[in-house]
Amino acid sequence: MMIRKIGVLTSGGDAPGMNAAIRGVTRYATYKGLSVEGICRGYDGLIDKDSTPLTRRAVGAIIHRGGTVLKTARSEAFMTKAGQLKALDFLHKKDVDALVVIGGDGSMQGARVLSTLGMPTVVIPGTIDNDMPGTEYAIGFDSAVNTVRVAVNKIRDSAFSHDRVAFVEVMGRHCGAIALETGIACGAEMVLIPEKHISMQTVTDKLIESHKQWKKNSIVIVAEGAMHGADICNYVKEHAPELNPNLTVIGYLQRGGAPTAYDAKMASLFSQKAVETLLEGRCDGVVGLINNKVIITPYEEVEKYRFPIDENEYDLVQALGK
Ligand code: ADP
Ligand code: F6P
Repeated sequence: MMIRKIGVLTSGGDAPGMNAAIRGVTRYATYKGLSVEGICRGYDGLIDKDSTPLTRRAVGAIIHRGGTVLKTARSEAFMTKAGQLKALDFLHKKDVDALVVIGGDGSMQGARVLSTLGMPTVVIPGTIDNDMPGTEYAIGFDSAVNTVRVAVNKIRDSAFSHDRVAFVEVMGRHCGAIALETGIACGAEMVLIPEKHISMQTVTDKLIESHKQWKKNSIVIVAEGAMHGADICNYVKEHAPELNPNLTVIGYLQRGGAPTAYDAKMASLFSQKAVETLLEGRCDGVVGLINNKVIITPYEEVEKYRFPIDENEYDLVQALGK
């Protein structure tokens, strides 16, 4: 099928670099002679008929901005068949021949549904969690890690000065990638991630052991998927008050802010691949980085490409943090 017009939307949790991807998709598509419709507020915008034409000028001066100018949403309505058919109908009314979805794992499921209903789709991975199949990298991750790193370095100054154990809770949903990456980059003493179960008692015993060896301040990065930062902090307070623990929850700070150079670059490369894929008539898949190459993987094959956390990195945090 000849593609003349594409739609683009951002969906799920916002991630730094989404704007760079909106710009990349719009500019590369127009460079190739296509027109572009920007859908507002993710799948909700398809159902509520909320969209705007995107020109080259309309996406000027956004490559460096956090968030998403198209807005994003977690759409309950799109989880129903009726919502999905409404969404499809709107795309047809707007003469959209194919849709680029920028989002995470859930957004990919949504794109897949639209594909099965006959609308060609391609997904650009965009989530700070870096937990998507079909790619080793999702845009937003590097920016989130850098945001956490800046915060942890400041927290360490204070932990050092007061001889405290500082727990830092980070996002990631069911994935420990943000915690592990910042754990290495900040020289954390310990990372608690969902992929590696450890009891609160063992965590406490290890910290007591370090304390006895004159290590009076420590940073422990807690992935939200492993346990609540408040639970482990309170547990240590109760069982080893001499460690003087405190807790910082980084929260939504790590979703916002300007994308790093790496995220802005990856967003641009992923955008090019998404548009090229649609023009070649190969669609219904996820753009991704595998073995340092930008490639497309069909939806039915993405589960083959799930990248687990790096065991060596996990061991290294413990080895260097002792
Ligand atoms: P992310 O894309 O960041 O993982 P979510 O998991 O919240 O974020 O998914 C974003 C949206 O994608 C959901 O709110 C929903 O509208 C849509 N979605 C998620 N899973 C499905 C599914 N199985 N079928 C259809 N749509 C889905
Ligand atoms: O998927 C991105 C993410 O920030 C997760 O790390 C976190 O668990 C979740 O979104 C928070 O979702 P919400 O924006 O609905 O609070």
